[in-house]
Amino acid sequence: MYLTFRPSAAAAVAAIILLLAPAPAAGQDPKPIQLPPAKTEGGKPLMDALKARQSARTFAPDALAPQVLSNLLWAANGVNRPDGRRTAPSARNWQEVDVYVVLADGAYVYDAVGHALKPVAAGDHRAKTGTQSYVADAPVNLVYVADMAKTGQSPAEERDLFTPADAGFIAQNAYLFCASEGLAVVVRGLIDRPVLAKALNLRPDQKIILAQTVGRPTK
Ligand SMILES: Cc1cc2nc3c(=O)[nH]c(=O)nc-3n(C[C@H](O)[C@H](O)[C@H](O)COP(=O)(O)O)c2cc1C
Repeated sequence: MYLTFRPSAAAAVAAIILLLAPAPAAGQDPKPIQLPPAKTEGGKPLMDALKARQSARTFAPDALAPQVLSNLLWAANGVNRPDGRRTAPSARNWQEVDVYVVLADGAYVYDAVGHALKPVAAGDHRAKTGTQSYVADAPVNLVYVADMAKTGQSPAEERDLFTPADAGFIAQNAYLFCASEGLAVVVRGLIDRPVLAKALNLRPDQKIILAQTVGRPTK
């Protein structure tokens, strides 16, 4: 038995309809995107993926196929068990790190339970996800945001130490998926956080920890 999210046939049809819909015109609000079900089999053996894991800083500008984006997000922090737990561990099972997905046509937050992208901002905010030039043209920038409201009454030291660790596990999952799929990827801490927080409409208790750029390698 596979312990993965499996939407109904109706949801799968809805996903196809949404994914075939034209990208929103400039100034138009982006719509929610139901991702196709992740393909959770195959890929490189773990030891081969570890041998291939590396950072890249040049990216082809082409968008990733919806299936690749779906697989990437599931690998990074998708639901992998019936009780809603994730591919990445989190301290006290807070599940406090949200994966924001900044694409050319809008910014979204990944809803792991629904395996969908919920819009958070219209327009192209890729350039605001980092201080290095390649982020503006790479097709996908993931942003790892800790929702401190989900860390309860834990001592401040735990919250400060554990939330970056939780983001690191997600980033490493994404690194290994990219290594397996031959995608280019780099995790990034060089971010103008106030600028990006504003672009993503974050609350004050949401903390940007890291970003990660993903795309196809340049030839
Ligand atoms: C917490 C963290 C922050 C990083 N920030 C950046 C960054 O802002 N920009 C960048 O180009 N690389 C960044 N990197 C990538 C490192 O430079 C890279 O992992 C390191 O040079 C080793 O290369 P490798 O990943 O290919 O092994 C970061 C890595 C980590 C773990």
